[in-house]
Amino acid sequence: MQFNRSRELYDRARRLFPGGVNSPVRLMKHLPYPFYVARGEGPYIWTVEGHRLIDYCMAFGPLILGHRPRPVEEAVKRVLEQGWLFGIPTELEVEYGETIRKYYSTIEMLRIVNTGTEATMNAIRLARGYTGRKYIVKFDGCYHGAHDYTLVKAGSGAATWGVPTSVGILEDVAKYTIVLPYNDVHALEDTFKRMGDQIAAVIVEPVAGNFGLIIPDLDFLKALRQLCDKHSSLLIFDEVITGFRLALGGAQEHFGVKADLTTLGKIAGGGFPIGIFGGREEIMKLVTPLGPVYNAGTFNAHPASLAAGLATIRELEKRYPYEVANRAAARIARAIEDIAERLGFDVVVKQIASMFQLYFKKGDVKNADDVRQADEKLYLKLHELCLRRGLYLTPSQYEVNFTSAAHVDDVVDRTIATLEEAFRELKLSL
Ligand SMILES: Cc1ncc(COP(=O)(O)O)c(C=O)c1O
Repeated sequence: MQFNRSRELYDRARRLFPGGVNSPVRLMKHLPYPFYVARGEGPYIWTVEGHRLIDYCMAFGPLILGHRPRPVEEAVKRVLEQGWLFGIPTELEVEYGETIRKYYSTIEMLRIVNTGTEATMNAIRLARGYTGRKYIVKFDGCYHGAHDYTLVKAGSGAATWGVPTSVGILEDVAKYTIVLPYNDVHALEDTFKRMGDQIAAVIVEPVAGNFGLIIPDLDFLKALRQLCDKHSSLLIFDEVITGFRLALGGAQEHFGVKADLTTLGKIAGGGFPIGIFGGREEIMKLVTPLGPVYNAGTFNAHPASLAAGLATIRELEKRYPYEVANRAAARIARAIEDIAERLGFDVVVKQIASMFQLYFKKGDVKNADDVRQADEKLYLKLHELCLRRGLYLTPSQYEVNFTSAAHVDDVVDRTIATLEEAFRELKLSL
């Protein structure tokens, strides 16, 4: 496969944008330049050279129906015919808000913003405003967006590029962010024992999807709930990835553990920019204009995002997208385990619902340190071998592969056959 046009575009782009890209994980660090995409349809994307790739990155999560699902396209077109930005409330936002509240019983009131980053930033500000406390707890490897409160030992691009704690964040801000290992109830108990009365909130990805895939122990989630209750701290579930993915009601429905504040994004915007923070009315009433915790935005509750999000949710209500997407992820995960075992690779595969990731390592993956022990170079080599065969896995070990309703059985069959070939070549290259 030649990527000449991509190389030309990258040569121009790197004079324009830091690293040639507008978000760090788009520059794949094992390739001399990224490939450029021209279009997408179902489970496929086409590069500017016309190569068709089966996509498991899926724009890092929002596209649970696949690329360009017709109901979403139609809904957005209808919005465009009416004009698309007013700075005035719309009927659509009322219907949208009611739909979110229907599936997230802990969200009595919400504010619709533009990105997951804004959602978590506002949720944390609100938790501090509500409790009058300064400290927040987050977990090593969890990523909650690119803002100062949480960009401490963060995952995603921050991990891929080795800057988990960004330069430019004031120590005076970072010192109020306590970072604990994921799935470690003892560390949590110990921290609450020492400083529970100063902790405004614990923010957690209820399934961690930004340091590869780390699945929570149910006891860990329950301990979070209990300790927050005991110490009157707020529990923030960052469901930007898990919302509408694990179930219509996200991780809270899947695990039966409830949050005080919830953040949503990605799927909730059907591929258009969105972020949501919401929770009990008593807390949300502190948000402007009702209360003193400030939030505002020119693009908040953008009609195109609301229409795309609603159309996506309406499709998900039919359930079959979950059945297809979850089956695809489970089949691929089992196939990777099988291939790795036959070829003598030590590989751990994690999968839940329509997310999966593999690690070249022995043992298990329960927290970020376990992921750090994996052989990243082998992952990237496998990634490249798959790419050359038309299979686009997520481009970093610190990200997750996503399946969608478009990853039907024959696409999965071809994926598994390609993985087999790539693993064989990987073995030969060692
Ligand atoms: C769990 C989680 N929270 C927050 C964010 C930030 O969302 P956005 O990229 O829309 O700002 C992400 C993005 O990947 C995420 O995965």
